[in-house]
Amino acid sequence: MTEAKLEAWLDESRAFPPSPAFTAQANATLGIYETAEADPEGWWRTQADRLTWTNAPSKTLEWNPPFATWFGDGTLNAAVNCVDRHVAAGRGDKVAFHWVADATNETRTITYAQLGVLVAQAAHGLTQLGVRSGDRVAVYMPMIPEAVVAMLAIVRLGAVHSVIFGGFSADALASRIIDADCTFVVTADGAFRRGSASPLKPAVDEALLTCPNVKAVLVVKRTSGDVEWTQSRDHWWHDVVDGQPTTHEAASFPAEHPLFIMYTSGTTAKPKGIFHTTGGYLTQVATSYYYVFDVKSATDVCWTAADIGWITGHSYIVYGPLINGVTQVLYEGLPDSGGRDRWWRIVAEYGVTMLYTAPTAIRTLMKWGDELPAAHDLSSLRILGSVGEPINPEAWMWYREHVGRNRCPIVDTWWQTETGALMIAPLPGLTATKPGAAMRALPGISVDVVDNDGVTVGNGEGGYLVITKPWPSMTRGIYGDPERFAETYWSRFPGVYFAGDGAKRDLDGDLWLLGRVDDVMNISGHRLSTTEVEHALVGHPAVAEAAVVGASDETTGQAIVAFVTLKLAADDHSDHAAIIDELRHHVATTISPIAKPRQIIMTPELPKTRSGKIMRRLLRDVAEHRSMGDVTTLTDPSVVAMIAGLMETHASSED
Ligand code: WTA
Repeated sequence: MTEAKLEAWLDESRAFPPSPAFTAQANATLGIYETAEADPEGWWRTQADRLTWTNAPSKTLEWNPPFATWFGDGTLNAAVNCVDRHVAAGRGDKVAFHWVADATNETRTITYAQLGVLVAQAAHGLTQLGVRSGDRVAVYMPMIPEAVVAMLAIVRLGAVHSVIFGGFSADALASRIIDADCTFVVTADGAFRRGSASPLKPAVDEALLTCPNVKAVLVVKRTSGDVEWTQSRDHWWHDVVDGQPTTHEAASFPAEHPLFIMYTSGTTAKPKGIFHTTGGYLTQVATSYYYVFDVKSATDVCWTAADIGWITGHSYIVYGPLINGVTQVLYEGLPDSGGRDRWWRIVAEYGVTMLYTAPTAIRTLMKWGDELPAAHDLSSLRILGSVGEPINPEAWMWYREHVGRNRCPIVDTWWQTETGALMIAPLPGLTATKPGAAMRALPGISVDVVDNDGVTVGNGEGGYLVITKPWPSMTRGIYGDPERFAETYWSRFPGVYFAGDGAKRDLDGDLWLLGRVDDVMNISGHRLSTTEVEHALVGHPAVAEAAVVGASDETTGQAIVAFVTLKLAADDHSDHAAIIDELRHHVATTISPIAKPRQIIMTPELPKTRSGKIMRRLLRDVAEHRSMGDVTTLTDPSVVAMIAGLMETHASSED
């Protein structure tokens, strides 16, 4: 790519106009920004009618900053909204999921009526095990239909799911189970990755050694391997669920009844349990899905290529799409399970109309070559979405040209675990798009870009992204720690929500996201805190001190670079290679393989300020091979030069 081409893409006056194919949407939605802006609460109250309420709410927002309630006197059941009401309306034969297995030809097609039966049976099974409204249930599963069924069955009973990504280690699983005091776990014996089975249940067994409050574990059989079994505690899904009655009477719960907890990394070592409730969350995921992905056609086949272990899977595989009653692809594998053109084969085979994924996946697919998407019929695609990290213009253009064949609008969607649903994104048919920009806040959402003092910046300037009005799907707090919620998000700029992201307003006033401005790293769209990884490293007996930074990386957005000083006794190795390997493995088993540093630099010292703080900013410069800025506050400026030298001589130890 030439510089000139990039310049042209970035030229803010060269936006892609709304696609003419979306005229119908444009007509139907004309004026919604204005309507919503004139009366945001009225707008959301109208959107709440997308749900089926047992008692319709008369209240909308009650705002006691920073705590909101939405639709406070309404009652409903989340699972009924996702499944039963579609069946009752005669749409039971519509396919809810085309499930596609990892690397085999195994597939399963599940209609809304069949999903209803599966959820009813699972709800009976969970009840039999003792699950009751308000109980927290951990879900630690691969991408199989039972994962979605389990989530829906849990919320149907008014219990609360805490889905923990299947890639997390036993330690990470245990700390999350303990933090939310989960009393039940739903898991599988194992999972498939690129055709080979790997066990999952041993991590649960290990985690539960430190979780005495867990009463029962429900286990789906996915692989053929043997598993350890704790008789009084473990139950096979097929024994407990399969024979249950196929209908289930659902109770209704208040709009503010807890729905789920989703752990995410903040700036400290302890992950935060981001807590969401029912009515407001469901309203906003349903509304945003409807408008941003334009899901009006009976023939749509939508594919959010994400894991249900993250918020994207919760909001845009489970709740948003199911409330809208759409047909989806649910894919178990990795982008290259069964071949590097696997995604394109799935798009062609199922006639996928909407594809929603992360820039890191787009860049990986791009690296694998233009000829792979070119060899398949992708003409069914209508909309392409991006989420999880800033999308670089080059990836955006590749997505547009080679996947969307210059026909499909790209919706770059900014949001967070905490926001619950999309907040900033173009609307196809209404908003022009620019390569790399998320454009503008959705109707009913108010955001701003402010400077250090909280003052709105002008067009053409950058600053901090804040959200200035409460929104329905906002987190109701950090589970068990309301003070931390107020402190983390609402204290930097009083009265507004500080997202932790930098943003720029271009000359037209459109928004470009610039990445995190705090110690949160974004590795392949996964959030990790620098402190969390430092903690894991320092937990190793050989390590004296560790400093971790996120350095930019062509494929993963950011990659973890760790600077480590060893304890004297451990530092007599002339070659550090073995201990570096061991430390990377140690981080993978303490947190998750996604937290494994790309590079570990052994250094006799870390650069510190006179007050003893590690200067991460300098280390980041070193890790990104930039020249160092001001080093005058360092105790010993020569330390940085020494580390930069070490960085050049240590070959990176990538997998
Ligand atoms: C980043 C994922 C730029 C951002 C849904 C945010 C993005 C964090 C975008 C939340 C985007 C997400 N452009 N950055 N379109 N989407 N981010 O909680 O830094 O896993 O704060 O939620 O991802 O990550 P989380």
